[in-house]
Amino acid sequence: MDFKVADLSLAAFGRREIRLAEHEMPGLMAVRKEYAAAQPLAGAKIMGSLHMTIQTAVLIETLVALGAEVRWVSCNIFSTQDHAAAAVVVGPEGTVEEPKGVPVFAWKGETLEEYWWCTEQALLWPGGDGPNMILDDGGDATLLVHKGAEYEKAGAVPSAAEDDPEEWKVILDLLRRTVSDDKKWTQIASQIKGVTEETTTGVHRLYEMFKAGTLLFPAINVNDSVTKSKFDNKYGCRHSVIDGLNRATDVLIGGKVAVVCGYGDVGKGCADALRGQGARVIVTEIDPICALQAAMDGFQVTTLEDVVEIADIFVTTTGNFDIITAGHMSRMKHNAIVSNIGHFDNEIDMAGLAKIDGIVKEEVKPQVHTWTFPDGHSIIVLAEGRLMNLGCATGHPSFVMSNSFTNQVIAQIELFTKTEEYPVGVYVLPKHLDEKVARLHLDALGVKLTELTKAQADYIGVPVEGPYKPDHYRY
Ligand code: NAI
Repeated sequence: MDFKVADLSLAAFGRREIRLAEHEMPGLMAVRKEYAAAQPLAGAKIMGSLHMTIQTAVLIETLVALGAEVRWVSCNIFSTQDHAAAAVVVGPEGTVEEPKGVPVFAWKGETLEEYWWCTEQALLWPGGDGPNMILDDGGDATLLVHKGAEYEKAGAVPSAAEDDPEEWKVILDLLRRTVSDDKKWTQIASQIKGVTEETTTGVHRLYEMFKAGTLLFPAINVNDSVTKSKFDNKYGCRHSVIDGLNRATDVLIGGKVAVVCGYGDVGKGCADALRGQGARVIVTEIDPICALQAAMDGFQVTTLEDVVEIADIFVTTTGNFDIITAGHMSRMKHNAIVSNIGHFDNEIDMAGLAKIDGIVKEEVKPQVHTWTFPDGHSIIVLAEGRLMNLGCATGHPSFVMSNSFTNQVIAQIELFTKTEEYPVGVYVLPKHLDEKVARLHLDALGVKLTELTKAQADYIGVPVEGPYKPDHYRY
């Protein structure tokens, strides 16, 4: 089996944590049981690009239990948990000497070149074939296949402009090496039945490609299942933003001024958690609806300009770029903590920070750096501006990821088994499946649902067994 991970001897530790996680992931375990006999993913060759954590290990082994062949990479250079990667490669039945699990190409602390090399490896099945399904988080695997096919059609890979981001230059280099006359990427793209996308940022890319007419295969937007974005993005970040801050700095949060940029699902979770720790939380927003929500939730809402000099902790959650600029950072308090929990690292202008004349970067420990300005004051940047909850801590806990990943598995089954029902486009799962995912998690929390009577159901115009809300309902 081909694979590349940090250290296979960590597999036993990984397996012990996977066993604990399985207990906390009732949705995934129920799906394994429900589909054990039917094997709906038999014949599926799934390439996954999603943070290689313990929770993801349970997802991968669920896909395998349903019949799929899987190859995996992380979707971030810092988010791999090396023991999880090792355990997935070794597999439940294998040994370090004789791994029998799934090929994983991921380790914590990849370079950008290594990251894109890993993505390429996971897209190449032995024998030169590609996957027939993608499970993506942030859209990097989808992007590589699309750009490869696009440049093969054009007959050339464009040169990078000097001011292009470093990562784009790395991608172009890889494509220059691999875009070929035998149309490898076009071939791979043509075999893909569809992609299921995990996060807001990746979904955004998919809708843009669909609008531009460049999307090559159908996609299910898993992020906008209610049981994903209203749980993982919100309650997951409510848990893991504090975990990231604590493991990176252990600074006391109570009494500090924390700025949360963006009050979408992730921002709501982060602001709530920081307030729970006793911080005075200030929110920035561009959307009047979200700004009003933040105000009514009791947060001061103002611009970053207004508070950049007084805040102790900054967390960006926007999925947008250039939120905290180098200029902002140069005006911050001594040892202000600067972090991002959005998908990509461009929310904080790290390139601009590095270009400041006379600035000195020092590693406190991996993923925690001080940047000292020529005037002698410093700031603390977490995970080099990449998502801090996965870079500095271990991301979301299992229970919330069970909701997200049960949606992922159901979406993979939908696209793989009902391909003809999904012409190229971007879809969300039907509401009855969303409700099913929630239902699978109720028992574990001791939730007792009230059942509608037939008369009540008729009165509000819904079936007794659901779905209970129209598609436009917002929760
Ligand atoms: P969202 O769209 O619900 O929220 C983003 C908010 O930022 C919006 O309300 C928007 O109006 C606001 N915003 C945009 N530009 C802004 C600006 N210049 N200043 C202030 N506010 C601005 O998106 P969601 O679901 O909250 O996701 C945010 C990011 O987090 C995405 O990149 C997503 O992929 C990522 N994500 C990260 C997770 C993690 O574990 N680290 C988990 C889930 C999502």
